[in-house]
Parts: sequence; structure tokens; C-alpha cells
Amino acid sequence: MKKFYIETFGCQMNVHDSEKVIGTLVGRGYSQVETPDEADLLLYNTCSIRDKAEQKVFNRLVEIKKRSRDKVVGVLGCVAQQEGEKIFERAPHVSLVAGSASYNRLPEMLVQIETGHRRVTGLSLETEDTFEVPFTRRDNPHKAFLTIIEGCDKSCAYCVVPMTRGPERSRTSASVLDEARRLAAEGYTEITLLGQNVNSYRDPSPAGLDFAQLLRRIGQVDGLRRVRFTTSHPRDFVKDIIDAIDENPILCNHIHLPVQSGSTSILSRMQRLYTREEYLRRINWMKNARRDIAITSDIIVGFPGETDADFEQTLRLLEEVRYDSIFSFKYSQRPNTPALQYEDHLTEEEKSRRLTIVQERQRQIQLERNANYVGAIEEVHIDGYNRATRQWLGKTSQHKQVCFTHPMLPEPASGGATLEGTYLPVRITRSGPVSLAGEAAVLPN
Ligand code: SAH
Ligand code: SF4
Ligand code: F3S
Repeated sequence: MKKFYIETFGCQMNVHDSEKVIGTLVGRGYSQVETPDEADLLLYNTCSIRDKAEQKVFNRLVEIKKRSRDKVVGVLGCVAQQEGEKIFERAPHVSLVAGSASYNRLPEMLVQIETGHRRVTGLSLETEDTFEVPFTRRDNPHKAFLTIIEGCDKSCAYCVVPMTRGPERSRTSASVLDEARRLAAEGYTEITLLGQNVNSYRDPSPAGLDFAQLLRRIGQVDGLRRVRFTTSHPRDFVKDIIDAIDENPILCNHIHLPVQSGSTSILSRMQRLYTREEYLRRINWMKNARRDIAITSDIIVGFPGETDADFEQTLRLLEEVRYDSIFSFKYSQRPNTPALQYEDHLTEEEKSRRLTIVQERQRQIQLERNANYVGAIEEVHIDGYNRATRQWLGKTSQHKQVCFTHPMLPEPASGGATLEGTYLPVRITRSGPVSLAGEAAVLPN
């Protein structure tokens, strides 16, 4: 039996693509192994969102070069799509290069590899297909990803994704609902709907559901207790999505709505398709919702042309929104992106300085926000146990990390009793900038 090893870099879409790739390989008689040394086929599912991410991939390819004699090496994902056949020149020990828009052809590509082809590629972006597979290997038995839309039709000036993942393709609502029901029947209670822009979802079948309508339908699938989605794009974000969340507690009260910058003029140079005011209007809808919706975001500092005044606007926006958490990045020049026409005028030091200011400001906001949870009882979906701290770990509906003790089950019992996968009310007793701590008082029924 052929053995494969796979390593995944990048976002949740890549993580889930790998799960589907694993399913495809296992369905063809391959078995997965934990180390490259045991494998005949080494796969790297790669990310090129920032220069560092791409460098990491090439470093890995150099590292494995000596150990990969007699093995087949494949590069999948966004670096594969972006660099294409150039990867064979930089890393001659690679024999497969395929982007995510070609994964439907994986079985065919595997046959080519099995029959000894040395250079196999899947690089076309002209596809209507989404990657739907008969088997998916999901490691977590309680939480599952479910792709509803592939690709991206926006053209943010800094971003490689439209070029690495191809045009937007939505799955039919019937196929999405069918997968959600299957997951619930298999015992998954939490699912995360995935897409580069989930809320640009548009059902291609005659049912013609939009994203909010799809959410409502998924929120009714028997057996599911939590439904999340990521990432939403502000331009296509309509109030009906918030109404759907207000109507159904199964839909988690957390929205990730990346703003990137607080300055309208930078947003316009970024080709983000909304102004600061339009963005804040959407935030107001969330703040006026009946449920307490956690809001998170992505921020880029040091985009070409970002003046001190523009940067100040981003800081002011952080104050105004008071996000529950953010991911923040220094602008990184990417191949073939429209922003290359702008001079990348800020030094690395200045970008780092701005990044530190954003992160310190946000840390303070999170400290203050999280302190409000002390004394509250939060329902936690339990993910695991930390032996070092002797605490159980889990997430609230708002996606806040909670570590807690349980007097009746201080650790997983040797007989197998565990809280993993269950939902418990936890009394929050302490808070920090990135997590809450507390104590559970009841056992799951
Ligand atoms: N589709 C999502 C984002 C996907 S990429 C959206 O539109 O919001 C995840 C994040 O990486 C982006 O939100 C952005 O903040 C960051 N990012 C993307 N390209 C970048 C670049 N060239 N430099 C720095 N950060 C970047
Ligand atoms: Fe990139 Fe913009 Fe598409 Fe998000 S919406 S994936 S940032 S191009
Ligand atoms: Fe990276 Fe591609 Fe995701 S560039 S962030 S793996 S879409």
C-alpha cells in the first residue's frame, strides 16, 4: 500500500482542502503517515498570502530535498498555482504542482504519478467546479468545515487569492444542505461554513438562495448545535445576515468582518469597494442586534501611501468598533498584484512600529472587553484538555477561548470519561486579553 505524508500551510480553506485531498487519496488505497520518512508521496499544501508564508514553503522544500530521494514530492495550493512550472526549476525534486482549482483532477494526476510521470501539473483556473469528494478525512469528530463557495471575484490590490484560487464558484444549496445533514448524522455538532467571501454565496440552482437564506436553512438541520461562517466581505454584507443570527441561537453570534484599514482613501487604493462609513454602518447593525455579536477583523498596516493620518484613522476605528480580536499584518508585496504599481514607500521598521502600536492598542481593548465576562455563565463547546495547566479548553458561541476546571472531572478519566465534544455552562472567574478562565459546575447529561 502506498503511504503519503501531507503538511498544510495557510488558512482554513487550505486545511479543509487537505482533508478532502486526504479523503481522495485514502479512497484510492493510500494510507496517511505521520512523518515524511515513512512516506512514498510527500504533499505540501501551500500558502502565498504574504512573502513569509511563501518563503516557509520553499524552505521546507529545500529541507526535504535530501530525504526525498525515491519519493514523489507534490506541491499543492496557492504557491503551486502562483509559481506553476517555475517550481520544477527551483525545486527539481518536485514532480506534482497543482492549484486548488484542479483538485477535481487529482485521481487522474495520481494515475500519472503512479505510472512514473516526472512532471505533472494541474494549473488551469478555467473551472466551474467546486471540489466535492466522496470521502473527506476529518480528524476532529465534533467540529467540521464545510465549503460553500470557492475562489474570489474581488480584486483587492494587495491580494494573491483571486489568482491562486480562481473565480468564485458557489455550490448548490442542495449539496451544501445534504453535506450538513450528513455531518449531523455522523455526530458533528458544530460546523463552519467556509469561503474566501462566504457572504457572496449565490446558489447556482433554481432555488437561488442567497447567503442569509442558506444560513437559515442550515440552522434548521437537526443535530447541529453551532453553525459558524468565515470570511465575510463588508461589501456584500447585508443586514438580513444579522436578522438570521438574531432569529436562531444555533447560528453563532460571531462575525469576522475584515476591514483592512480605517482610512477611506487607503480602502479605495486597496480596491476594497467600501468606505469607512459604509463599513461602520454594518458594525452598527451588529451592535444593534438583539444578541451580543462578537466582531473580529483583519488589519493591514503600511499599505503603500498610508500616511500617519491614514494610520491614525485605523487606530480610531479600533477604538470605535472595539473588536473582540483582530489579526494584523504588515503589508507584504505579492507577485502579479495590482498594488505593485504603487511604490512600497514605508520601511520595514516603520511597518513594524505601526504593527506594534495596533497590537498594543487592541490588546488593551481586549483586556477591557474580556473583563466584562467575569461573573457570567457561558456555554462552552469543549475541544480538549491541557495537561500542563490541568484545565479543560473550549470555545463560546462568540468564539472566545475558555480554560476551566471541573471539580467532578478534574482530568480525562482513564476509563475514557472525557468532556471533549460536549457543551457545558462555565462560570467565568478571570479574564485576560486572549482568553477567559472559569469553573464548570455540572456534568454533561
Ligand atoms: N477573503 C478574506 C481575506 C483572506 S486573506 C477577506 O477579503 O477579508 C486573510 C488576510 O490576509 C486578509 O484579510 C488581509 O488582512 C491579509 N493579507 C492578504 N494579502 C496581504 C498582503 N499582501 N500583505 C499583508 N496582508 C495581507
Ligand atoms: Fe483577497 Fe480581497 Fe478576495 Fe479577500 S476579497 S480573498 S482580500 S481579493
Ligand atoms: Fe494562503 Fe491561499 Fe489561504 S494564499 S491564506 S492558503 S487562500
